[in-house]
Amino acid sequence: MQTKLDIANFPTKIEKMPALSEELQKDIYIKRDDQTGTEFSGNKIRKLEYSLKEALDSGAKVVITCGGIQSNHARATAAAAIKLGLKTILVLRSDTPPVREGNYFLDLLLGADVRIISSADYRERRGEIMREIREESDRKGEKAYIIPEGASNGIGSLGYATAVAEILAQEKETGLCFDTLVVPVGSGGTYAGLYLGNKLYKAGKDVIGFNVCDDADFFRNKSVEIIAESLPYLDNPDVAYGTGDMHIIDGYVGRGYALSRPEELAFLKKIAVADGVIFDPVYTGKALYGLYHEIKKGNLKESNHILFIHTGGLFGLFPKQDEFSL
Ligand SMILES: Cc1ncc(COP(=O)(O)O)c(C=O)c1O
Repeated sequence: MQTKLDIANFPTKIEKMPALSEELQKDIYIKRDDQTGTEFSGNKIRKLEYSLKEALDSGAKVVITCGGIQSNHARATAAAAIKLGLKTILVLRSDTPPVREGNYFLDLLLGADVRIISSADYRERRGEIMREIREESDRKGEKAYIIPEGASNGIGSLGYATAVAEILAQEKETGLCFDTLVVPVGSGGTYAGLYLGNKLYKAGKDVIGFNVCDDADFFRNKSVEIIAESLPYLDNPDVAYGTGDMHIIDGYVGRGYALSRPEELAFLKKIAVADGVIFDPVYTGKALYGLYHEIKKGNLKESNHILFIHTGGLFGLFPKQDEFSL
């Protein structure tokens, strides 16, 4: 397996959600990937430990990445890059002059060079825009390395393949045994990595994703592409994979990516009060809401010992605080 950096707080803790478990009559635990580090908290640092290692090995001095204006990945990249002596250029999507809040505020606080582009440009030309920036940087004699959206590519996803080994070691230590892993799906790399790790380490879990944008088919296909890119990094790339056994549940995107419905926000409040854990409205909140409703509907009968990966995103809560009725 490819080597990585070691800059985050791993292994992350596994904790029970007692009130939620009681209500749903299932064992529900969370893996606290929201506690991977304050500045680079969340799931992205697992991927960045691989991507940024490749950046350093390539001799890069600058790292370029992209995302929405409130991208957790962009903020985590900016924070991690500083520790490695790299400059960060962020290409962020916003159709209106962005309000300095949440992750975007932190990007600026961390001194990232932020370039705002429209959603049309982001959709159609973000790759081209990042390549132009790389050329600009190369011309200045500062070699640049591009990390795609969410670090959701072959190298980045290795972070979640190895997270499965971490979970198996924790199961051994604690005597816990999960039949199911649950994760939000935003750009696909976390799901693809967990799916791959589940096969590589023969963990035998049901790996369930809840997509928070696009649809399940889109992410099954994207996961296959990401895994194909991951295989060359493995010592033994002999892994059977395909869309057929990818368990991604659609139906919880709600009003759209990063848009919340009142019932989703009320659910976040209910969970915060009951179990003292805060989830974010864009990713973990929607996925946990999805899990809760699937179980309430009588689905997921085989899943009784569930490990929900809390992938972070808490800075994204603050720009939405006025939407909550508390
Ligand atoms: C907090 C948080 N959770 C989950 C995800 C989804 O992970 P992925 O992009 O790997 O699908 C993201 C990013 O998209 C995120 O920022």
